[in-house]
Amino acid sequence: MKFAFSEISLPKRGSLAVLVFADNTLSPMAQDVDDITGGVLTRALETSRFKGKKGDLLEILAPQDMDVSRVILVGVGEPEDLKLVDFENLGGSLVRKLNTSGARNVTVILDGLESNDLRDNEAAAHITFGAKLGSYRFNKYKTDEDDASEPSLLRMTVACKASSGARKLFTDLEAIAEGVFLTRDLVSEPANTLYPESFADKCRELSALGVDVEILDEDKMERLGMGALLGVGQGSVRESRMAIMHWNGAPNKKSKNPIAFVGKGVCFDTGGISLKPGPGMEEMKWDMGGAGTVTGLMKALAGRKAKANVVGVIGLVENMPDGNAQRPGDIVTSMSGQTIEILNTDAEGRLVLADALWYTQDRFKPELMIDLATLTGAIIIALGHENAGLFSNDDDLADQIFDAGKTVGEGVWRLPMQPEYAKQVKSPIADFQNIGTGGRGAGSIVAAEFLKKFVNDTPWAHLDIAGMAWSKKDTAIVPKGGTGYGVRLLDQFIRKHHEGK
Ligand code: BES
Ligand code: MN
Ligand code: ZN
Repeated sequence: MKFAFSEISLPKRGSLAVLVFADNTLSPMAQDVDDITGGVLTRALETSRFKGKKGDLLEILAPQDMDVSRVILVGVGEPEDLKLVDFENLGGSLVRKLNTSGARNVTVILDGLESNDLRDNEAAAHITFGAKLGSYRFNKYKTDEDDASEPSLLRMTVACKASSGARKLFTDLEAIAEGVFLTRDLVSEPANTLYPESFADKCRELSALGVDVEILDEDKMERLGMGALLGVGQGSVRESRMAIMHWNGAPNKKSKNPIAFVGKGVCFDTGGISLKPGPGMEEMKWDMGGAGTVTGLMKALAGRKAKANVVGVIGLVENMPDGNAQRPGDIVTSMSGQTIEILNTDAEGRLVLADALWYTQDRFKPELMIDLATLTGAIIIALGHENAGLFSNDDDLADQIFDAGKTVGEGVWRLPMQPEYAKQVKSPIADFQNIGTGGRGAGSIVAAEFLKKFVNDTPWAHLDIAGMAWSKKDTAIVPKGGTGYGVRLLDQFIRKHHEGK
């Protein structure tokens, strides 16, 4: 789909979308259309349930005395209340509706928003951003798509008072959307085609955008002493990998230590010898969601040439049961030198992250480190699919991530960490064990406490995205499947705090 911006005027063809405010107050352009058509809008409003509420949509076909083929009324509620996220949702809902209606072109007219604090160019750019995010489809495996379900919309033009400013803002947002789309593609891809080596190949493609990519193979990781990560992958015929992606965009490149993002990339999680039950196991193709977000984030940052030094490190493995697989009771030595007793081979994400986190802080001395992982089912019990779990050893960092989430509409909620939980991962015969002693209690916190043993004194935050990486239902800007959660959140975090404006 293509996106464009123009000054405000009535289009000569295609579809037209105009705003309607609370209690069916027409925007100036909607009022013009009503006048031209001898009151078609007013009559349509009277005969429908449309109330001008945020998100209401009403389609009027072939309006008389007009060149356009349809007019869509877009309810926005009280104009002064609208946030960037609201504009994104409006764009997303509009595109999703038009994609099933046969419309090919739409012009959206943004007027009557003077009482809103946002500048016109921001509103216009974000409605377009939402439209782009909502237009995503993962359809590469559909060989027989009937025309009806093929999205019809090819072009959206947003008309506003500040069209050149909007176009400029949208350039960056479009790069972010491309990052989100890469994450969604990776997360939705099945494990027969996306495995550690092929995932690493996907990372290599980012070099076209100026990202430096390094791949560690098993020999190299063996020499580095990554016994925790390698233990997880040893039951798979697919070799493990670690991918390291550098984006050096800070004006004074060399001087600044990077911000590091670390991702769990379990390309498939059967549970290993502690095998998971069969029903629902297919979902574990997206157990690489953390790595998917880190990779999409690197694409977004490079695509918009972020003025920051960032490194992304992802641990890529497949967790399989096999004659060579790791057993419950095995003890491995992590790169940090600390030993881990494996009591459950299904608590594998933390083992992968143990080495990825240690390696990252050891090699890059990052200013701070944020990991993302589909780490525990327990976080879904705690927070459902509305917020990721946030854990941190640094209150300022936690607050900044929380605020970034609010700004972009990707929720996070902080959970506690304290020594009483940490005690649960002490092993009687090794330094640590990979599950807690508390049974089903506080599983997500105990997992975070385990990770904390491998971050040294680096300011660090952990996002448990098990409830967020995948969605079973469509929303305006997130179609079902891989969500791309976290890319917009962390892009916002970098933009706000690490691009030295
Ligand atoms: N990948 C899973 C967590 C998960 C579960 C993600 C459901 C998304 C949806 C993780 O590797 C796992 O299996 N965790 C175990 C930990 C337990 C053995 C301590 C869990 O959550 O049951
Ligand atoms: Mn598991
Ligand atoms: Zn897992």
